[in-house]
Amino acid sequence: MYFGRIPRFSPSFSPAEALISARMFLNPPDDDALKVQEFEQKFAAFIGVKHGIMVPSARYAFYLLLGALDISADDEVVIPGLTYFAIPAMAALAGVKPVFADVGLRSHVLDPAAFEAAITPRTRAVVPTHLYGTPCPMGPILEVARRHKLAVIEDCAQSTGARYNGRRVGSFGRASYYTFGLTKNITTLSGAMITTDDDEINARVRAQVAASTPADPQKAKKEALVGTAMMFATHPLIYPWTLHPVIRLGNKLGKDPIHEPFGEPEVVYDGLPSSFMKSRPRAVQAAVGIKQLERIEALNGARIRNGRALDVELAHVPGLVLPEYPEGAEPIYMSFVVHHSRRDALMAALRRRGVDTTVGYMNNCADHPLFDAFRRDCPHAAQIKAEQLHLPVHPSLDSRDVAHIVESVRRALKEVDP
Ligand SMILES: Cc1ncc(COP(=O)(O)O)c(C=O)c1O
Repeated sequence: MYFGRIPRFSPSFSPAEALISARMFLNPPDDDALKVQEFEQKFAAFIGVKHGIMVPSARYAFYLLLGALDISADDEVVIPGLTYFAIPAMAALAGVKPVFADVGLRSHVLDPAAFEAAITPRTRAVVPTHLYGTPCPMGPILEVARRHKLAVIEDCAQSTGARYNGRRVGSFGRASYYTFGLTKNITTLSGAMITTDDDEINARVRAQVAASTPADPQKAKKEALVGTAMMFATHPLIYPWTLHPVIRLGNKLGKDPIHEPFGEPEVVYDGLPSSFMKSRPRAVQAAVGIKQLERIEALNGARIRNGRALDVELAHVPGLVLPEYPEGAEPIYMSFVVHHSRRDALMAALRRRGVDTTVGYMNNCADHPLFDAFRRDCPHAAQIKAEQLHLPVHPSLDSRDVAHIVESVRRALKEVDP
């Protein structure tokens, strides 16, 4: 029996990983470092670089990298207008000026021409952000960076495992960062990674991480519990009778009962959160990460299969703007983002048909009150923010689900745009 009820996401956390974490919570090792080192080495080998350094979050990774590259007060970094607020917020905290550059309207990633136009004599670095699983056009971006002698810090928070011209993203820049929260394509129950081929950056970042105290094990325990709850709540036999009715009710009331509880308040930082100093990753996070890494090709492969099917099946649906991918990019479809001028009406119509969608958490930071001092015109980022809709593309969907999404989009569009 097919219910046609499709959640917006499902965690990559599996029963096997829940068991590993439960075992390690009961029997914590005396020394976390060995497991963490094993994960770091395996992750670096997967990306194809020399060093991996496990850190508590991608935003702290970026902050550490600004320091390791001696980028400081009055320097500028070019950041795409469409990104997660915490990245420009970290630049501002470090006294570095974030200079926003626009993204491709349908690719959602940094436009090399906009990047070049944003460069000034004070620019020190650029942050190509492989958003929604789509690699940036790294060829042209590296060429501009080389000409202007800028460091390239890749933001791979949404694209672990994606490739550009056959090479994994994260292996192009001076350094890169990734994040492994519960909603990402692989998870370590919170935690993140820096990779680099540069021995000096590795040594400098590693010294900072070594000086921090180990993370509170309660945090990973809480994440494991939330991950397990998500696993059940999004299961095809459970979701239709639990989360789905809540979302339907929210839809009727014009509210999204998931978006806010899973989002975080957008704030400027007036200091480094103390949790960053008490957050050296634990063995349990590394052990889950090692298991996830063994499955990453299968997890990404399922996303790619679903994303390609949506690309093909939705290609000729009138009124819908589909994503497009830079030449050489091999996306992993972390999100499948379409645009529509009546986005909210389309989202409501899809939810009525059992297909849950979201507007996501990326903002046009170039026009955000948090970054008033750094305001710039990024018309594509503004349009994407207003019109983007994330269709489900996660690995637990099968071909019947994808067909149901396609049919629901067709019907919902007829309702919205008769
Ligand atoms: C593109 C991008 N960069 C950075 C981050 C920040 O990651 P973290 O929450 O680990 O700091 C996120 C979070 O989702 C993101 O999507």
